[in-house]
Formats: sequence, C-alpha cells, structure tokens
Amino acid sequence: MTNIIDGRKIAKELNAKTKKRVEKLNAQGITPGIVVILIGDNPASIIYTRNKHRTAEKLGMKSILRKFPKDVSQTEVLQAIHHYNDDPTIHAILIQLPLPKHLNQTELIEAIAPEKDVDGFNSRNVGKLYNNEDGHYPVSCTSRGIMTLLHSYLDKIEGKNVTIIGRSILVSRPLQSLLINENATVTMVSLHTDNIDYYTKHADILVVAAGKPNLIKKDQVKPGATVIDVGINRTANHHLVGDVDFDDVKEVAENITPVPGGVGPMTIATLMQQTVDLCEWNR
Ligand code: GUN
Repeated sequence: MTNIIDGRKIAKELNAKTKKRVEKLNAQGITPGIVVILIGDNPASIIYTRNKHRTAEKLGMKSILRKFPKDVSQTEVLQAIHHYNDDPTIHAILIQLPLPKHLNQTELIEAIAPEKDVDGFNSRNVGKLYNNEDGHYPVSCTSRGIMTLLHSYLDKIEGKNVTIIGRSILVSRPLQSLLINENATVTMVSLHTDNIDYYTKHADILVVAAGKPNLIKKDQVKPGATVIDVGINRTANHHLVGDVDFDDVKEVAENITPVPGGVGPMTIATLMQQTVDLCEWNR
C-alpha cells in the first residue's frame, strides 16, 4: 500500500512543538524574533512571506515583515540587514529569494550575521554543513524539512541510494550534504544528465526539484521507492502540480509526497523551528 506523506500533519505537529518552546522562552522573559525581508512584488514571494510572518506571530514570536520596493538600492538593503544584525530582539533574518536582478544576492546573504542566518545560505553555515561540523548551525529550511519527512516515514536513511534531480543552493545541494552526513549514497543529476532514468530507477529515495511539471512517471521509479516532490508549478487553469506525476507514480511508490501538502508546509514549519533554535543557541 502506498503511504501519502502528510506534510501538513507533520508541519502542524512541528509547529505545536515550536509553540511550546516559545512559551517556555516567554516564561524566561525571552521572545524569539524573526524579520522577513521582501523586495519587490513577485506574487509567489508575497504569499510565502505573508505566510512566514503570520505563522511566526501565531506561534507567539516577534515577527517583522520588512518590505522594500523593487528598485531599492543595495546600500539600503545592506543598512537594514546591519540594523537587524545589531538588534538583540531579532534572532533570525531571512531575505526572500529570488531578488530583483540589480541586487547582488551573494553580498546581501553574506551580510547577514551567521548566527542570525535562518536560511543557512551564508557561506559560513554552508561550509559547516558541507564539512559535517559538530555544533549548532542553521541549514536550508526546505532541506531540513525534507529530512524530517524522511525520518517520519523511514526507519533509517543510512545505506539508502538517493537520487536528487536538481542542483540548487536553496534545496538540492544542502539536502545532498544532510543525506551524506547520515551515510546515504547520493547521486546528483539534472535535466542535462544523459540517461537520467538509469539514476531515477536505482533510487530508494528519489527527490525531484527540477521545476518541470509532471516530469517523472512511474516507469522511471523503482517499485517501493520513497518519492519527494519539491516542485510547485501552476498549470494554465491555476492548479498547483509538482514535478512528479503523482497519480501515475503513486501506483509504484511506497511513500510519496503530494503537491500541495507535502514538502511546502514543512519549509515554513522548519523556518519556525530554526528561528527558535537560533534564539536558544545565541541568547
Ligand atoms: N524562495 C523560495 N524558497 C526560499 C527559501 O527557502 N528561503 C528564501 N529566503 N527564499 C526562498
């Protein structure tokens, strides 16, 4: 029987745990604080940042949604980041991506204090993850959220063959490191890969982050595999679909994430979890 991986349920449970941690901190006179920086008017970014802001408020955190017009200067955004770096009531800073083309994304991400870099995109945190360093540091929220889903449905990750379709710094690369650090065997492929089916068919865990609607069909998937769909694509009639043909692939997969309701809710729940982590680690 196929398990439909219930990202909404697991995110709700994680949020309930995070709320309890916030209450415990509140009792000690501490309120975790997050600032979400939104630049421009990308419709998806407007929705994502609003959801992040509102969820943080609901869980009892201090939450600031800092909006800038799309023609804001690099200097102005840098000044805001420096301001929040110095603000002791803010523990987490997030710049919603993608950014308008005239802004230097790397410089802005690097300007965030590493101990407030709740996305884990800052090179110091990326390096710690890559090197599997001991100690506390933030990692990509979507990647950590996927690990939480995998741990909820699989006994172990060690020894599994994982294929990831995609190479992004937001999800695929940090996920590769998280999986390697748990002794999985990880193969990174992309839409440029020759004979991609060879790699998808050998995967015990197949993660698809290609940005192509309904790319993966059941004849490309190993029977009994766990399939994680990171794609969010809007069809011409405004439906959301993933990169995996869900109805087709669910016939062969043992565990599969739906879109929506799979990976998506885990990103925000993990962001909330990691904001409280940063507060506890750095208070
Ligand atoms: N845009 C899409 N996903 C993300 C994310 O996880 N973090 C940020 N900062 N921007 C995004």
